[in-house]
Amino acid sequence: MQSIINRQVFLILTALLKLGTSQSVSCTLRPAYPAPVLSNGWSGQLIYDDLDGPRGIVFDTSGNLLVVEQGEGIVHISLNDGGTTCLNVANKRDVIDNDSLNHGIALSVDGRTLYASSSDAVYSWAYDPATGTVSGANQTLVTGMQNGGHTTRTLMMSQKYPGMLVVSRGSDGNIDIAATTLEYGHSQIRAFNVSNLTSTSPPYDFTTQGRRLGWGLRNSVGIAEEPTSGGIYSVENSADNMRRNGVEIRENNPGEELNFHGSLNETAEGDNYGYPNCFALWNPEIPDVGTLTVGSQFALEQNSTVNDAFCNEERVAPRLTFQAHTAPLDIVFQPNGSEAYVSFHGSWNRDDPSGYTISSIPFSKGSPTAPANSSNSSRVIMANPENSRCPNACFRPVGLALDGAGRIFFTSDSTGELWVMAKTSGDTPTPSTTTSGTASPSATRENKGVRAVSIGLWMYGLIMVGLALVL
Ligand SMILES: *[C@@H]1O[C@H](CO)[C@@H](O)[C@H](O)[C@H]1NC(C)=O
Ligand SMILES: *[C@@H]1O[C@H](CO)[C@@H](O)[C@H](O)[C@H]1NC(C)=O
Ligand SMILES: *[C@@H]1O[C@H](CO)[C@@H](O)[C@H](O)[C@H]1NC(C)=O
Ligand SMILES: *[C@@H]1O[C@H](CO)[C@@H](O)[C@H](O)[C@H]1NC(C)=O
Ligand SMILES: *[C@@H]1O[C@H](CO)[C@@H](O)[C@H](O)[C@H]1NC(C)=O
Ligand SMILES: *[C@@H]1O[C@H](CO)[C@@H](O)[C@H](O)[C@H]1NC(C)=O
Ligand SMILES: *[C@@H]1O[C@H](CO)[C@@H](O)[C@H](O)[C@H]1NC(C)=O
Ligand SMILES: *[C@@H]1O[C@H](CO)[C@@H](O)[C@H](O)[C@H]1NC(C)=O
Ligand SMILES: *[C@@H]1O[C@H](CO)[C@@H](O)[C@H](O)[C@H]1NC(C)=O
Repeated sequence: MQSIINRQVFLILTALLKLGTSQSVSCTLRPAYPAPVLSNGWSGQLIYDDLDGPRGIVFDTSGNLLVVEQGEGIVHISLNDGGTTCLNVANKRDVIDNDSLNHGIALSVDGRTLYASSSDAVYSWAYDPATGTVSGANQTLVTGMQNGGHTTRTLMMSQKYPGMLVVSRGSDGNIDIAATTLEYGHSQIRAFNVSNLTSTSPPYDFTTQGRRLGWGLRNSVGIAEEPTSGGIYSVENSADNMRRNGVEIRENNPGEELNFHGSLNETAEGDNYGYPNCFALWNPEIPDVGTLTVGSQFALEQNSTVNDAFCNEERVAPRLTFQAHTAPLDIVFQPNGSEAYVSFHGSWNRDDPSGYTISSIPFSKGSPTAPANSSNSSRVIMANPENSRCPNACFRPVGLALDGAGRIFFTSDSTGELWVMAKTSGDTPTPSTTTSGTASPSATRENKGVRAVSIGLWMYGLIMVGLALVL
């Protein structure tokens, strides 16, 4: 009898220990605004809400997160992981304290070099994923990017061609005439081979060195490498307050863009994608629309040199076009290339707020499955219940990171949040963003289940320990 009970006690204590270290993670944080709605079988959970303007986010090779707090620096976040969407923050601490860092972050393929950007430069540090710390002096790898207006400099490190660092520089303001002069380097995406830099190499000059992947790109904040083909895609934030032939077209035009830039094994310099003379049509409500469809390029005030024909023949059209002002800020791919996820930060320049979602775009064989003229190429998977409450009572997604389990982690800068999303069932209908709903019913159920099992086992354990002592 004694030995049976001892064995029971041992088994239960072992089970409790396991629960204590993994599953019995508390994950009950709720947003201070109406709970987001999820669809297509996804569940979501707020993990943390005490970040300061969180922007870019990456996983290090130890499974911890590195997050840029805009105007603060980089923090290291380790997580308690109870599975699916049940996580909380075990520890958060500063890695780099520098107020010029404002968005861009990347890690080398081996995980041992950290890159981050200010409005002017890209810096690197030796990084130890075991300790989550940087060591030694920082090195400046790229400079000469300072301009007003759009000041984030998104970084993307190629997985296919290690050492190829892609850097995106936006425009100085809404309509930046300087972007029409190649030598000014505004509104360009360029790739730099940093594998052969030594600690004494001078930095690359953004405008005159590296390889141009495209110009005439107003503010392409999200960049990703499609994992099966190596194709580089970017998402572009297009212009505000536009008029065509004197008529205001602001509400639904121009569209936001998904652009394609070829692969990093190529050598040709990238072409012009239109800005600030040519824009993508979203809603064909503009004057003199003619035969233009969704995704066609159009000019604002046509003349003999800059007109719709010029825009469509001489400028690179987007691969996909999205609702105007939705503000796509990041894009990441499923490792098998079946889907891209995009964070739409949301509008400020639209009467009826748009965006404020995490959406998915189906891909196949390296390309989006939807044609370029599609008006429904993206599917909303997480949204705010009522966009009319945005931007004040809404999440505003920025940086995206996938973990090894296919979960999506993202930051929301306006709310200082870190969220997780996991696919927990088959497809369900896309949520309507005008009716109210509740967050992640399946995640809530599951987390309650874990807690119930945990409490039950604790009570059973206490009884058995009591019995063992008595006997
Ligand atoms: C941040 O880094 C930049 C570039 O190295 C440097 O010039 C600046 O002094 C740093 N700021 C602070 C507050 O340390
Ligand atoms: C880089 O190192 C220099 C010298 O230690 C320091 O002054 C500067 O703030 C660092 N820059 C960043 C971005 O951390
Ligand atoms: C980057 O530079 C290294 C050293 O010169 C070279 O071996 C490598 O092929 C380059 N990578 C690309 C993608 O061009
Ligand atoms: C590194 O290699 C690339 C191509 O291989 C070359 O264009 C670049 O100038 C090299 N950079 C340095 C600092 O040697
Ligand atoms: C670059 O890689 C792609 C995909 O593997 C391939 O189709 C293409 O031919 C390559 N281009 C060059 C110039 O090697
Ligand atoms: C046509 O419009 C473009 C863009 O506004 C302008 O830069 C250009 O000078 C104009 N050309 C003529 C011939 O009016
Ligand atoms: C790609 O991976 C996702 C996530 O694991 C999976 O749901 C999907 O079925 C896969 N698609 C293909 C075509 O293999
Ligand atoms: C959209 O593009 C597809 C494929 O290129 C084409 O078959 C279709 O006719 C186009 N639809 C419209 C309305 O232009
Ligand atoms: C877009 O609409 C077409 C036609 O209604 C539909 O077949 C397609 O699945 C939709 N695409 C997405 C990504 O929802």
